[in-house]
Amino acid sequence: LPPIQVGLLGIGTVGSGVFRVLQRNQEEIRRRAGRGIAITMVADLDTERARGIVGDAAQVVADARAVIANPDIDIVVELIGGYGIARQLVLEAIAAGKHVVTANKALLAVHGSEIFAAAQAKGVMVAFEAAVAGGIPIIKALREGLTANRIQWVAGIINGTTNFILSEMRDKGLDFDVVLKEAQRLGYAEADPTFDIEGIDAAHKATLMSALAFGIPVQFDKAYVEGITKLQAADIRYAEQLGYRIKLLGITKRVAGGVELRVHPTLVPAKRLIANVEGAMNAVVVQGDAVGTTLYYGKGAGSEPTASAVIADLVDVTRLHTADPQHRVPHLAFQPHAMSDLAI
Ligand code: HSE
Repeated sequence: LPPIQVGLLGIGTVGSGVFRVLQRNQEEIRRRAGRGIAITMVADLDTERARGIVGDAAQVVADARAVIANPDIDIVVELIGGYGIARQLVLEAIAAGKHVVTANKALLAVHGSEIFAAAQAKGVMVAFEAAVAGGIPIIKALREGLTANRIQWVAGIINGTTNFILSEMRDKGLDFDVVLKEAQRLGYAEADPTFDIEGIDAAHKATLMSALAFGIPVQFDKAYVEGITKLQAADIRYAEQLGYRIKLLGITKRVAGGVELRVHPTLVPAKRLIANVEGAMNAVVVQGDAVGTTLYYGKGAGSEPTASAVIADLVDVTRLHTADPQHRVPHLAFQPHAMSDLAI
């Protein structure tokens, strides 16, 4: 089979990682996907930067719609971010019959119902492993690995920037602003870092995990969201003296008659594994009735860790697209099921 053709919308931190890892590991990836995966088109407003990354390997354009209009492109990877133009482009890509792979948690947490419904109607896949906890395959774990379970709760450190800030403030006594700048320099922070420090990014991700864990629609607007901006160095010190660490947790939990969905700084006993997750690392704990407690740990942000998740989706979509077009939608597109009686 000829390689499946992929168009990238946006080639910044994550997009360049996708390009690099796909090239570096192309043999393994081709074997696992059953055919090659080739990025043949890249859209980025900064065409010069894009050309510097892809060289002659792909056509570079400034206009994302040129990628969507190209009949040879099978999969569109949306790495623009945000709710604005990204929503429009994803819907247009779906309407054009393309599968979509996205790392855009904000978009899916807010407009997921509309996007998943459009994909289902068109018979294409929307895959979003990279949208939650970067390189940790938590979407796969919730959707596939734990599929036998009645999930009781999910709780995690799902924003690397704030975990990095809290860790550095505690360990090095550094100021909030200094550490935030470092997180931005390292490529962890959102374009608008308020999304990180106010807990919004974590709430986007918790919303997606909640929908998957409990089979309910994505409902970001129902989340309780509190960030870390009101925390002071003294809070972190006092918590320490009492045997706790302060962690920004995203929590979603089955409760009588519904589901809780919240993000806030939480006191975690210092001896718990999750209390010892430091720096920009992420960790998610999932409690299921059959499996008990499971823990997933890894890099939640950054170029290649996030690329790892994007490429996992590319491989999945390629396999399903190639193997069994009839049965592919239920596998990847989010579908509310069985428990739609639960509300947040
Ligand atoms: N700003 C996010 C974080 C990036 O810090 O975790 C990954 O989604």
